[in-house]
This record gives sequence, C-alpha cells and structure tokens, in this order.
Amino acid sequence: MIELVEDLDRARGRMAELRRAGLSIGFVPTMGALHDGHLSLIRRARAECDRAVVSIFVNPTQYDDPADLERYPRTLAADLEKAEAAGADLVIHPDAGALYRDGYRYRVHETEASRELEGAHRAGHFDGVLTVVLKLLNIVGADRAYFGEKDWQQLELVRGMAAAFFLGTQIVACPTVREPDGLAMSSRNIHLTPAERALAPELYRILASGAEPAEIARRLATAGFGVDYVERRGARLLAAVRLGKVRLIDNVEA
Ligand code: PAF
Repeated sequence: MIELVEDLDRARGRMAELRRAGLSIGFVPTMGALHDGHLSLIRRARAECDRAVVSIFVNPTQYDDPADLERYPRTLAADLEKAEAAGADLVIHPDAGALYRDGYRYRVHETEASRELEGAHRAGHFDGVLTVVLKLLNIVGADRAYFGEKDWQQLELVRGMAAAFFLGTQIVACPTVREPDGLAMSSRNIHLTPAERALAPELYRILASGAEPAEIARRLATAGFGVDYVERRGARLLAAVRLGKVRLIDNVEA
C-alpha cells in the first residue's frame, strides 16, 4: 500500500529510516496530474532503486502567471493510484507554507542558462524550479533523482545545480514519452481543444524534420502555431510554441 506523507519532518524521518535500513532511494519530483511520462520515471526509479519516492507539489514560485498556476490540474486521488500502480512506495505531498517557511527569501539563482529560452519567456521560472528541487532533494536525500528530457533546459539546470552545490543525488535523464502521434506527453495537453490537439503533433514532426531552426520556425508559423523560439543548443534543437491558451515545448537531438 502506497504511503502518503504530508508533514515534512515526518517525510525526513521516513527517508532517514529507509537509509538506515540500507535501502537505496529513487526520487521522482512532480507537480501531479501524472501521465505516462511521469509513470515511466517512477517505473525506472523502482527498477533501479530499492524504494521509489514521488513528490506531488504544484510549485507556486515557478509560475509568473497566476492563471497558469490556477489552471494546473490537481488530481491527488487519481495520482496516488497511478503512482502506486507504477511501483511508487511513498508520496510526499507538502503544504506550500511548510515548504516555503522562509517565505521564499532564500532562492537558487542561476545567472546564465536560466535567462534564455524558457527563462526569457517566463520571468523567475527557473529560480522557482531550482529552489524547489533543491529543497526536495535535501528532504529526500535520494541516491538518484529522475527527470524527463522533455524539459531539457530544466534537466540541464538541475544537473548544473547538483554539480555546483555538490549534491549527493545522481541526476538521471529519461527519454521523452510521446503519444502514438508524436506529441510529447504533458499535463498541459488536456487543455488543448480538439482542433488544437489535432494540430499539436505537427510540432514534433516539423522539429524532427532535419531543417534549420529558421526554416522550422517558418513552417511552424505557417502550420498555425505562435512561435516563441526554435533554437539549437549543442546537439539539441529546442522549441516553444503557443496553441490558443496552451504553451507547448519540445526538443529533439539534431
Ligand atoms: O517538471 C516539473 O514537473 C517541475 O518543474 C518540478 C521538477 C517537479 C519542480 O516543480
């Protein structure tokens, strides 16, 4: 039976017990509204570690738009069932006041890579992400933490933070999970209208076409997307687009 822990001191206590028992911990941080992408991270955590721990916390500090924060689906009961079926042993579901008992006075601020791409479109987003991830990694003290490659920039920044602060948790990158038509799984997808949902897979198809970023941006705009960016970073091609009220991101190796 999956264990739900809401109190942070109790969560720390449970993690210490697991470590004392010599059990390795795999950690999957989420905001809930779990889909197959999250479940693949949980399955991998459970396959590679003795215990799989999941956090479900809709992190207010990574939102610059209150409407976006409000819109994020809160589906705890269904999430617990899905997490358990995927092999999770324990879910941490903290209260925002407890997690931010400092009132967000202390925060992680990366000064270069966090300012471009997503960071250029979402003020303060990565400060919020890195801060909550650091808090959660410290609470859980996992051997390994699992992050999806769909949020490539987030993954790179978390990896950088773990190295910069000598964190003891290994950051593990996991491949993007896609719908059969190629659309990257995301909790935002449920907000797409049927017409937008039908168009959405074009993002991946055009991004993976092998064309140059400027040409990809042109084709996406012609297809009906609002294009925020298409940019190459090393061997990665990253894009963010808007479809109605929904913002989609994706990336491919190129
Ligand atoms: O990727 C997410 O769902 C969130 O950014 C994370 C890592 C759980 C931090 O709130």
